[in-house]
Order: sequence, then structure tokens, then C-alpha cells
Amino acid sequence: MHKLSSSKTGPLLGSITVPGDKSISHRALIMGALAVGESKISGLLEGEDVLGTASALRALGADIYKDDNTVWHVHGVGIGGLREPEISLNMGNSGTGVRLLMGLVATHPIQVTFTGDSSLSSRPMKRITNPLEIFGAKFSGNSEGTLPIKVIGAKSPIPILYEMPMASAQVKSAIMLAGLNTPGRTTVVEKFATRDHSERIFKYFGVPIVIDEDNIHVSGHAELTARDMTVPADPSSASFLVVAALITEGSDLTIKNVGMNPARIGLFETLLDMGGQIYFENKRQSCGEDISDIHVKYSKLKGIKVPHERAPSMIDEYPVLCAAAANAEGNTIMRGINELRVKESDRIAVMVKGLKASGVNVIEHDDGMTVSKSEVIGGTLVETHLDHRIAMSFLILGLNSKESISIDDGRVIETSFPGFKDLMNSLGAQICS
Ligand code: S3P
Repeated sequence: MHKLSSSKTGPLLGSITVPGDKSISHRALIMGALAVGESKISGLLEGEDVLGTASALRALGADIYKDDNTVWHVHGVGIGGLREPEISLNMGNSGTGVRLLMGLVATHPIQVTFTGDSSLSSRPMKRITNPLEIFGAKFSGNSEGTLPIKVIGAKSPIPILYEMPMASAQVKSAIMLAGLNTPGRTTVVEKFATRDHSERIFKYFGVPIVIDEDNIHVSGHAELTARDMTVPADPSSASFLVVAALITEGSDLTIKNVGMNPARIGLFETLLDMGGQIYFENKRQSCGEDISDIHVKYSKLKGIKVPHERAPSMIDEYPVLCAAAANAEGNTIMRGINELRVKESDRIAVMVKGLKASGVNVIEHDDGMTVSKSEVIGGTLVETHLDHRIAMSFLILGLNSKESISIDDGRVIETSFPGFKDLMNSLGAQICS
């Protein structure tokens, strides 16, 4: 077992950065693989999820390698140039990797089988295959619509207009990628705005894309321009450090070069509403994305009702918000977040179980949870169900717990935040095997 435990700790102090943004890293590799010429990517997240996408793109024909200065070089095949892989593509734990690549190959005349680990193999894929079928792609797999799935790409794809039935940037992006090798104009109608990294990176690589109100129109068969990119640090990874500093007395941290895409910063807005001392410094723009340094200090927090409409902009951050909420005066009410039930784990059920076992007062709702200020007792071993964000959230909760909090498997953290334990410990945390 690869157990990790965290214990009550002194102040967290320092100025650091966190690994590159996972969402942008997947997309940078994919766009580089479609552009003719060489794209150089700095700051790429070298977590297992993104490395899995790089391997899959190699199997589809792109040439991708890292040089001695940790810059990634991607030689693309041009839109329409993907080749049929000789092997099935194992996407490990990565929902973003598999869903974006299913979209990409669905409009190429090739057949590709996708597999994944037990967590990914239990996640819903019909949300992806339904719209891709309208382009003309076919899918073979089990009746539940879960992996493994073979994609039989459309030979003559037809453009679609698709109204999103749920708030999902992965589904939106899969459709946009399918639209790239489809003649004419593909339109996604998005009532609830989700992260717009695909829209931004499409523009950056020269795809004709028009956004009018809720409609995103992508013109197919454009020629992509190879571009160099610097990936900002991941705000979702920074969130663990921000919450850690807010709940650990005397802490004062700066996290540099963090992506500040407005559709990703809902947790920071929520923590500010809760009374967190968080300051955004040195605001700037790079490669089509907003960036800033985050300065955060220990704070006395108060519970709030998190606005429903904020959910898409902090969808990955509810688990770590629970750690802040357990240390915040009163109740923190999180509703309208059913999508958490189909993430790497059922994040509502798994958080509620682990919080209760750690002595935190929590109520489970169909569509969320309410967490109240508690004396966190700990002394627990939490099951993480192959979910990196559950693993890190409980390690953060353990920093201000009477007895230590352990998680059953720390390896899964490698999917999004390689070096998490060492980075935390370099700031003064006590996380050990
Ligand atoms: C992501 C979109 C979100 C998020 C995931 C990354 C992306 O998933 O939870 O971690 O990069 O597009 P959904 O699209 O399922 O909301």
C-alpha cells in the first residue's frame, strides 16, 4: 500500500510555483499534434494524465519529445492527418484525455480503441458518444457506454449544431475538436459557461472560431499554425496550497504564475467571500490566458452558501473547499454540484464518508453537501478510490487535525500534481509515508 499521512503542522512559509495546468497541457499537445510544423511547449504538466495524452498522440502519428531543458517539441500531422494506431490507447485515469481524443478521432476515417483504469472505466462516456454519433462516428462497446470503447471514425463527417445538456468543458471540447476535420461550421450551444481553454487555444493556433453569446462556431478544415506556448501553473493545484495556508496558523505563501482564467477561479472567489486573505499580484497575460501570483495568509474563515452558478468555475475544487469549510465558522453550503458524482470518484459520497470518519460535521444532499465548523479529530485512513483530488484534500485537512489523517494510496496524486508531498514539506508541512 502507498499510504501517506499528514499531521498538524507549523506555519507554511515560502514562495513557490506548482506544476503546469492540466487542462491547458492536454490541449497544447493536441493542437501541436494537429498543426503543421513544430510547436514548443514550456511548463507542460508532466503528470501521468498528460503524459498519457502525449503517448496517445504519438500512436496517432505525431512526433513528440522533451529536450534537456524540459521544453516539449511537438511536430504535428496537420488536420485530417492522424493515422490509425496499431495498439489500443490506454488513457489511465484521465477523463479529459480520453474525451478530447475521442472527439478528435471521431471525424478521421480510422478506428481507435480506448481503455482506462478502473476509475475511468466506470465514468459515463455516452455524453461524448451521443454528439459524436451525429457527426457520423460509430462506437462499439458495452451497453452502459463505459470504456473500453472502439471509435469507428466518420469517413464523411457532417457538421452539427449541439446544445449542451450539461455543463462540461470536456464534452464541449470533444465536439469542437471533431469539428476541426469536418467541412463547414460546427456549433456548440453552451447555456452554462465552462472553462474556455479550447476556445482560447483554437484562436491562438489560428482556427477560425466565432463566439456569439452562448454559441461557439468552429469552421472545419482550417490550417493550424504551429505556435510556441508557455503553460501557466494550474489554479486547481494551487488551490490545495491556498487552502493549506488559510487553515494553518501563521502561514504566508506566494504561488507564482498561476492561471487566472475567469472560468477557473471560482474557489478563490469563494474563499474571499469566506474572509480569506488572498491577494492577486503581478497580473498579466500570456499565450491567450490570464496569469497572476497569489499571495495568501492564514485567515479566520466564515462559512457561506456557495452560489450555484459558480459551480462550473470551481468544479474540481469542492473537495478541497471541504477542508476550508471544516475550519470555517458556521456552515458552508454547497449545492447544485451533481456533476461531482461522475468525476474520478463520486466525490460527494467519498468526501462525506472521509469527513465523517475524521470527525467533521457534514450532511450529504442529493446534489451536494453542507460542512460545518468542526474540531477535526483525524486518526483515520481514508479510501481515495483512485481520485487524486480526494487524496490531496484529505492530506490538507490533516494539517489542522488533532491526530494525523492518512490516505490509502498516494500514487494517484501523480496524475495531476507530481512532487506534491515534497513541495508541501519544503514549505513546512508534515506529510510522510
Ligand atoms: C476539464 C473539464 C472538467 C474538469 C476536468 C478538466 C477539461 O470536467 O472537471 O478536471 O480540461 O476540460 P467536465 O468537463 O466533466 O466538467
